[in-house]
Amino acid sequence: MALVSYDDTAAAAFAATRELPWAGLDRWRHAVQQHLRPRAGTTVLDLGAGTGAWASAFTDWFRVRVIGVEPAGAMRALANHRPLLAGDGVALPLRDSCVDAAWLSTMVHHLADLDTAARELRRVLRPGAPVLIRSPFPGRHQRIALFHWFPAAVRVLETYPDLARVRSAFAAAGFTVSSVEAVAQTTATSLAEYVERLDRRAHTPLRLISDGDYDAGMARLRAATPTASGPVVDHLDLLVLR
Ligand SMILES: C[S@@+](CC[C@H](N)C(=O)[O-])C[C@H]1O[C@@H](n2cnc3c(N)ncnc32)[C@H](O)[C@@H]1O
Repeated sequence: MALVSYDDTAAAAFAATRELPWAGLDRWRHAVQQHLRPRAGTTVLDLGAGTGAWASAFTDWFRVRVIGVEPAGAMRALANHRPLLAGDGVALPLRDSCVDAAWLSTMVHHLADLDTAARELRRVLRPGAPVLIRSPFPGRHQRIALFHWFPAAVRVLETYPDLARVRSAFAAAGFTVSSVEAVAQTTATSLAEYVERLDRRAHTPLRLISDGDYDAGMARLRAATPTASGPVVDHLDLLVLR
């Protein structure tokens, strides 16, 4: 079961506020391209594809075929990308050795059984194919604005699998770490836009802190907004295993 549920309300909030403009994702486009090395016929699995934003971006950027797998019907209902299959990381609805890469964006913490999911990824990936995991990891939150403004959310992040845990689950399934790098993204063009777009229902760490901690963070953000300058740039990690 996911850490939080993705029902109609959460899905609508996610679609409205978490699908970043592609203009702010140049670094991600470049970083993924380096590892994916897309060619004609490349097939990518987007596991926990959500509303399909990354699947659509990869299709457009890299001209690859992206198969999304997403368990929440409410998320799938808001996605334009196809194919988008109903399915779970612990039992992928795909045959053996049929994909050239797997993309897991901000979903690895939802996998209740990481070891089984890693084995499933080993099963469906061709030998040598990369798993690309985009995630905030415990202890590596310092350059993510959400954790600055809502420090209580760091305690939620500490419950996510850390790099060592992910590495060991994937090692047991036959993968080794190829690289770990922090990749920048423009989350908002200004702090005012960041506040405007922030929706608690779309962020697992904000859903799991107290109302008091959430209100205190929003008050800090609103107080800082009039004097803030520049875009909000976040750095999430890209962990690549092969
Ligand atoms: C924070 S959203 C990220 C969506 C998308 N990857 C993105 O970055 O825009 C997490 C997604 O993981 C999905 N998820 C939760 N548990 C899962 C599981 N066991 N297997 C696959 N996906 C899962 C959720 O339904 C949700 O759509």
